[in-house]
Amino acid sequence: MMKKRFLQALDGQTITPPPFWLMRQAGRYLPEYMETRAKSKNFLNFCYSPDLAVEVTLQPLRRYGMDAAILFSDILVIPDALGQKVEFKVGEGPVLEPITDEAGLEALDIELDGFHQHLAPVYEILRRLSREIPSETALIGFAGAPWTVATYMVEGKGSKNYEIIRGVALNNPDFFQRMIDLLVDATSSYLIEQVRNGAEALQLFDSWAGVLAENEFRRWVIEPNAEIVRRVKKVHPDVKIIGFPRGAGPMYVDFVKETGVDGVSVDQTVPLEWVRDNIQPHVTVQGNMDNLLLVAGGEEMDAQARRIIDVLGRGPFIFNLGHGIVPHTPPENVARLAEIIRGEG
Ligand code: CP3
Repeated sequence: MMKKRFLQALDGQTITPPPFWLMRQAGRYLPEYMETRAKSKNFLNFCYSPDLAVEVTLQPLRRYGMDAAILFSDILVIPDALGQKVEFKVGEGPVLEPITDEAGLEALDIELDGFHQHLAPVYEILRRLSREIPSETALIGFAGAPWTVATYMVEGKGSKNYEIIRGVALNNPDFFQRMIDLLVDATSSYLIEQVRNGAEALQLFDSWAGVLAENEFRRWVIEPNAEIVRRVKKVHPDVKIIGFPRGAGPMYVDFVKETGVDGVSVDQTVPLEWVRDNIQPHVTVQGNMDNLLLVAGGEEMDAQARRIIDVLGRGPFIFNLGHGIVPHTPPENVARLAEIIRGEG
């Protein structure tokens, strides 16, 4: 069988037209998602229901034929499986019981058997998806990177400028290092299990990497991502790993040089020619159309999608957004984008 286009791109090949998938491709912008979502009140239960999670993973593929499916789940299943109280409140997003000291860490259940048992539905979802997706479609597993997961564990909810956790990391670095080490252990083990159950590539979402100063970025973003890549590749040397240190700016260069990732997802703030000259020589680039341009649509969107492909499509490249699809995105704009990427527009 021909190797899947998405995986060829992560091998460093230039693929024309470029393979594509979109972060948050399954979600509230799709009426069929809302319909399936209504079958489970609680978002975490929804993530742990194989029938429902498999169905919503497949929905965007049926409409748009992306080159990759991404496991439907959430980055906060890790704190949930570690025994932290995690809830998703309607209109508010995630709410956790914050952990800000050693006693909070001690209270977590860090025994590996129970952790994997809790996550067993995720592994079943991957096994089923690897049978059910089209043969030319790749299957992506994922996890949140330690810094980003820790922002929720420490602050207890989404944050604007992360002042609580940045303070904890600076004032109590020994405690915070222990939390990050725990997350490196749990996340590596989780991803190794995802690959065993059918994931062909992995993405590590470090969505809030962009708030850190250089030294902190090295310690809390580059080092933990690098350690996870080492541990996963030790068990699964051939699996492809994509990093996403969103908002890293010029630090994207050291991130790709020092973590060992095969690909990097680039957010929309980074200039295309700079990415081509400074990042693409090292790894496969994924990105980076503004998710709000996908909402706006029209000629501006068409022109920008073409420009991204024109600049980055001459090297190893996967088309994606700079951040996930937002709920008010018109589905027909996604259809139009898919046409442009395939060169049918
Ligand atoms: O990309 C995909 O299609 C796969 C599914 C996926 C979800 N979350 C589903 C989801 C993925 C890859 C994630 C990752 C995730 N989750 C991140 C990293 C990526 C990013 O967007 O920065 C983060 C920070 C989270 C945490 C999270 N989950 C928040 C802050 C929220 C609430 C905000 C919101 O969009 O509602 C969620 C909930 C969530 N995760 C939803 C979905 C489809 C919406 C919940 C619902 O349907 O009720």
